[in-house]
Amino acid sequence: MKKIVALLLAGTMAISLAACGSSSSSGEAAPAAEETEEAVEETEEAAEETEEAAEAEGPLADGVLTVGTNATFPPFEYLGDDGTPDGFDMALIKAIGEKIGVEVEIQDMEFSTLVQSIGTKIDIAIAGMTVTPERQETVDFSEPYYDAVQYVLLPVDSEIRTYEDLEGKKIAVQLGTTGNFIAEEIEGAELATYDKATDACNDLVNGRADCMIIDKNPAEVFQGKFSDKLVAVDGAQFSFEVENYAIAMPKGDTELAEKINGALQELKEDGTFDQLVEDYITNYSAE
Ligand code: ARG
Repeated sequence: MKKIVALLLAGTMAISLAACGSSSSSGEAAPAAEETEEAVEETEEAAEETEEAAEAEGPLADGVLTVGTNATFPPFEYLGDDGTPDGFDMALIKAIGEKIGVEVEIQDMEFSTLVQSIGTKIDIAIAGMTVTPERQETVDFSEPYYDAVQYVLLPVDSEIRTYEDLEGKKIAVQLGTTGNFIAEEIEGAELATYDKATDACNDLVNGRADCMIIDKNPAEVFQGKFSDKLVAVDGAQFSFEVENYAIAMPKGDTELAEKINGALQELKEDGTFDQLVEDYITNYSAE
């Protein structure tokens, strides 16, 4: 939308500039006429571009990329001191937006509603989201940008060590996450589901669950925050598989996918990606 207005203005300015030119070169009718012609051509060009801009469909037509996330998942997304979403994913998507030349607008929402909101409420989602075949039925994913595995967060005095030990236990998970899906498969497990990963962690700390299943990096952050109360155990010990994080995008929008993947690739090549990993993941400190 903004682009169209800018183009119309450009057209108008071209005409008025030409008008100034003709009045200053008094008596020389020919150059003035040429300039006017040029101005007319430019206006026509601008009009064509305006039409193109109006015709351009999809998420980028208005120059704004609306991005859904769930800011309860440090270090990938959490609420910063000013109350707005911050973290690795936020920095990454803003860098991608800059490369593509669009403004990025973040919408903090429940994780379990992200996939279904793509194409309506939001254009895309970045939320430490694992690529799964189920999600791929609804959305397309960018190239993966980070590897993860589910971890088990335990109270320090817990005796849980193996997959079998999880059977029949009360397990805290964030609703709609891969940790949730894994927990559903565990025999006799009683699930405590939360919209916010941070709430699940608080309940674990307060003894309302036997353990929590959540991705490696947030598990480590939560353990660091409650180091006298929690231990984080590598999911490999429970035979959990490696997962890949990617950006979820509208199904079939190859143009957008190419832009996002292209920008991601450039950020990897120019070192920005590694710098963001260092700043936001390696050096993350729970204050
Ligand atoms: N990787 C897990 C999944 O895709 C958990 C992601 C949770 N992300 C978040 N921002 N709360 O299901």
